[in-house]
Amino acid sequence: MHSLAIILLAAGKGTRMKSDTVKVLHPVAGLPMLAYPVQTARALQPDKLIVVVGHQRDRVEELCGGGDILFVHQQEQLGSGQAVAVTEPFLQGFSGTVAIMCGDVPLIRVETIRKFLAGHRESTAALSVLSVILEDPTGYGRIVRDASGRVQAIVEHRDATPQQKTITEINTGIYCGEAPFLFQVLKKIGRDNDQAEYYLPDIVSLAYREGKKVQAVVTDNFQEVKGINDRVDLSEAERVMRQRILRHHMQDGVTIIDPDSTYIDCGVTIGQDTVIHPNTCIRGTSSIGRNCTIDSNATIINSTVGNNVHIKSSSVIDESQIQDNAAIGPFAHLRPQTFIAEGGRVGNFVEIKKSRLGKGSKANHLTYIGDTTIGDEVNIGAGTITCNYDGKTKHPTVIEDRVFVGSNTSLVAPVRVGKGAVIGAGSTITKDVPAGALAVGRAKQTTYENWFSIKRKKQETDKPPEDDTSPEDDT
Ligand code: UD1
Ligand code: CA
Repeated sequence: MHSLAIILLAAGKGTRMKSDTVKVLHPVAGLPMLAYPVQTARALQPDKLIVVVGHQRDRVEELCGGGDILFVHQQEQLGSGQAVAVTEPFLQGFSGTVAIMCGDVPLIRVETIRKFLAGHRESTAALSVLSVILEDPTGYGRIVRDASGRVQAIVEHRDATPQQKTITEINTGIYCGEAPFLFQVLKKIGRDNDQAEYYLPDIVSLAYREGKKVQAVVTDNFQEVKGINDRVDLSEAERVMRQRILRHHMQDGVTIIDPDSTYIDCGVTIGQDTVIHPNTCIRGTSSIGRNCTIDSNATIINSTVGNNVHIKSSSVIDESQIQDNAAIGPFAHLRPQTFIAEGGRVGNFVEIKKSRLGKGSKANHLTYIGDTTIGDEVNIGAGTITCNYDGKTKHPTVIEDRVFVGSNTSLVAPVRVGKGAVIGAGSTITKDVPAGALAVGRAKQTTYENWFSIKRKKQETDKPPEDDTSPEDDT
């Protein structure tokens, strides 16, 4: 077994992103860009995984960290060559292969690196570079070969002669070499270039001059090795990653009616036979069960959805949990910490926040439920509001099993409605309701029998003798 160390370069700021956020933290399909090469590197099971960090290193470590990653700090960003050089003390005594990858190349696949590594190990090369042929190589380092076709140097676009600029084989920024040689040659690189930086690609010309064999392994998939330098590149990576994610779900038995308008983040799981309609967005760490139907325009964020759940059109579900056989929407809004138990029904224009709806309970129309615990088999009538906020503090509402809340009820919290109680429609409930009681809290109705004939008689007796255009007639 060869031993392997992987170094991921992620110290650069990413000036071309024009952002306050360091480049490698810009998300692609819901994860920071750096998370993808980290995943790829992990899949190769290296003996050491080093990430070189600089700009916003604390945030990078927080968002992309994990037990097996060793973060090495490059204090000043003096170039990609220096970025590798600073890892030397952390690889003391390591004599295996070092693979170098970039944190801003999220689309790279494990298979590609695996092949590249195998190609390096099978050869007698001291150093291998992954290259690709581009129709438009503008901006990239060019692979310069000597008369016999051997790789002689990498010249950055800005340092290239007009003739070198015509070279279409470019450096992907992915390299591997044997550790002792790599660190020895790194010590010799200088800053004699347009940016006065220590260029990592300069190890190629140094190795060549020392008579070492350097090879460029050409890959045919440019899309995969493309680095992200600006927001145009970012949107392209997003599109490619999204297509990969959707393909993976479809192959696993999920129907996606319109992949062009469906957005599913990398961390999402979806069960077999679930059907996803157009314009749906499933983000973060959401998990969707089997046999669910997600109708158009739904947004689901960091939520857990059970099996056989129907999420109807235009519903927004955020940090909530929905159990099996429930139905949500259309136009429902579940805000963080909402729990819908099995068979729960939440209908149109219902907003629920930090609340629990028990088994088989329903809130079907035009309702706000906040900071509320609702038992099983409860019916919440149309237009019910839990008045949970007194202007300063939030207060809880408890509605026990089998309660029937009539339409247009206001429940002024803190308040508790006991098991099986009934609330008359239009009530304002300010006091606890005991189990089994009927509570009605509304203005008493006054009924005037025969109202129209009384009114008519009154008009006749009030009539002025000659003028019949009294303004009162209009009332
Ligand atoms: C680099 C290569 C270029 C190649 C291209 C492929 C150099 C000098 N050039 O150019 O030959 O064609 O990638 O995409 O390497 N970094 C640090 N510390 C630093 C400087 C850079 O960690 O001090 C990291 C960056 O975060 C990035 C990587 O090194 O992950 C490459 O740096 P970047 O500035 O993106 O180089 P490119 O101009 O893209
Ligand atoms: Ca780059």
